[in-house]
Amino acid sequence: MKNLDYLHRKKQTGAKITMLTCYDYPTARLQEEAGLDVIFVGDSVGPNELGFKHEVEVSLDDILHHLKAVRRGVEQAYLLADLPFGTYASPEAALTAARKLIDHGADGVKLEGPEAEIAACLAQHGYEVWGHLGYNPQRHEKAAVQGKRFDTAKALAEDAIALQQAGAQMLVLELVPEELAQLITKQLSIPTIGIGAGRYTDGQVLIVQDMLGITPRPFRHAKPFARLGEQMLHAFREYAREVESGVFPEPVHARNMQEDELLKVKA
Ligand code: KIV
Ligand code: NA
Repeated sequence: MKNLDYLHRKKQTGAKITMLTCYDYPTARLQEEAGLDVIFVGDSVGPNELGFKHEVEVSLDDILHHLKAVRRGVEQAYLLADLPFGTYASPEAALTAARKLIDHGADGVKLEGPEAEIAACLAQHGYEVWGHLGYNPQRHEKAAVQGKRFDTAKALAEDAIALQQAGAQMLVLELVPEELAQLITKQLSIPTIGIGAGRYTDGQVLIVQDMLGITPRPFRHAKPFARLGEQMLHAFREYAREVESGVFPEPVHARNMQEDELLKVKA
């Protein structure tokens, strides 16, 4: 089982942690088979899977719905779920939301921003808490690199330490300069997972649609490891063409009756 101990040991030995977002059962099975360390139901489900304009539109029920599906496909990997926007405005609210995520199969929960107090409350109640600093879709309207200048970089590094001290067990760094992510990674004993944060974090995460090449215009940090969008479009067009022209289905795709049964039906 890829529990927190396993992930922390990876940092200690310098082995990279692998993580991807996931919103459905078939994808979860494939990520599990590929040996991903962390499979993550993020609020990026909104823009990437549900057609929402922004992450802040995602509800706890949306996350739970996808979490249940992903849980059915995950065996060894650590299953992380996002606390969506508005669900951790108070410690009590955070505890209620985290309880639901864990009850629906999450191993740990992630929150955004310098929320050391909330993180501490969750950790004290036994929840495995992940922090998330840098670009925070729940807090920043537009995607932009965070911590490029001395003052904002220093604040970000301090927030990271505060989250660790509060009991956060892992930290995602999104859209921060590579140099700052490297510095924070060195300063923390807990592992960092980067997205658009360069080469030196303890692990990497990408949005699954971005890395599969389904997203129309992904960010520069999102390397496409496949061109599934093109393949899907081709398959849809071919299907429509073959149905319209009568090429599909062929006899091999049909089911047939016994001749005597057919004669009785016709009679
Ligand atoms: O929801 C999400 O996909 C995330 C990652 C970008 C870390 O929070
Ligand atoms: Na998220």
